Amino acid sequence: MTTIDLPLLPLGRGKDLSAERGVECPGDLPAASDPDLVARAAAAKAALGDRVFVLGHHYQRDEVVEFADVMGDSFKLAKDAAARPEAEFIVFCGVHFMAESADILTGPEQKVILPDLAAGCSMADMARLGQVQDAWDALTDAGIADVVVPITYMNSSADIKAFCGRHDGAVCTSSNAEVALEWAFAQKGPDTKVLFFPDQHLGRNTAVLKLGYSLDDCVVWNPLLPNGGNTVEQLRAAKVILWKGHCSVHGRFTPEVVDELRATIPDVQILVHPECAHEVVLKADLVGSTEFIINTIEAAPAGSSWAIGTELNLVKRLANAHPDKKIAFLDKTVCYCSTMNRIDLPHLVWALESLVAGTVVNQITVDPETETWAKLALQRMLDLPGKTSRD
Ligand code: 13P
Ligand code: SF4
Repeated sequence: MTTIDLPLLPLGRGKDLSAERGVECPGDLPAASDPDLVARAAAAKAALGDRVFVLGHHYQRDEVVEFADVMGDSFKLAKDAAARPEAEFIVFCGVHFMAESADILTGPEQKVILPDLAAGCSMADMARLGQVQDAWDALTDAGIADVVVPITYMNSSADIKAFCGRHDGAVCTSSNAEVALEWAFAQKGPDTKVLFFPDQHLGRNTAVLKLGYSLDDCVVWNPLLPNGGNTVEQLRAAKVILWKGHCSVHGRFTPEVVDELRATIPDVQILVHPECAHEVVLKADLVGSTEFIINTIEAAPAGSSWAIGTELNLVKRLANAHPDKKIAFLDKTVCYCSTMNRIDLPHLVWALESLVAGTVVNQITVDPETETWAKLALQRMLDLPGKTSRD
């Protein structure tokens, strides 16, 4: 078994270029206290005009959202990036794996920029290519790799997406995990199994609650243990092999808080993202992607009460935008996604002003070989039959 080095670096310090996070972001940033930051961002964006297209994930800070040309979840932003071939620069206000996907889906002349290289995703770091290759070797030794379809959540590095492309698999997002799993189970006959990574919760919630598999049909693959911590018989019996990864934000919501809020807020409806643990999702009224959560709140009647389990920037924005509805955050101990929050106004101003001055900073590029295979896996997602977003 290959030993994988998993350095835990303080956010934004040190160098581990293979990781989604913990990467230094050198640059002559403006001071956060500069009172002209908003005016500077507006001026730089105006100077660049149609040459720049700014994408913003829904978990971004308000100060950044203000300058986004489009907002979206990771599925929508992947499509939006691909639909802007005329933009010379795509400034991605999100995290590293999203910028990589944008680079894969945009033309060779287009440059994708991540304003802070330390904006990674801890979940994406939980599945490294060497670990996934080791898992595949173990499944081969167990005699089942030929019926396993690998599906990776969008929240993974480009080399993991490329692995899925090479092995007849695909990418999915929280908007289309159900159709992606339906597609996967139709690929290799009745004995098909799915290897799902990196988010065990999205995989379990989708397989059990949407496709009707039982919890006993699922095993968890711990990359630090031989055979992922399973016997060969368990692997052969499983329908879904769930990688032991999770989101450090959504994984903190608990079923106990759901009970507390139901006891204290009359008629509250619990609305959560499928990255939450299965026990939380089981207690929720509605579960869906970021776009689904937004659409649900927009369509909700005035006076209705909601407790939302997703990233705090988005929940606060929804609460401010809908003062006629009572909107609570699902758990007072859960905080912002610290890596999404790395993108702030000073980094955005620095990235935009550098482009105006003719310097491309923090360009995200995927090597051509990885890009070819990752694009295949992404394209399989974009081509999924029927409705590709359940929103
Ligand atoms: P979506 O954008 O697919 O809803 O995923 C949420 C998330 O955690 C992004 O990092
Ligand atoms: Fe990663 Fe979770 Fe942050 Fe999304 S919210 S970027 S999955 S850590």
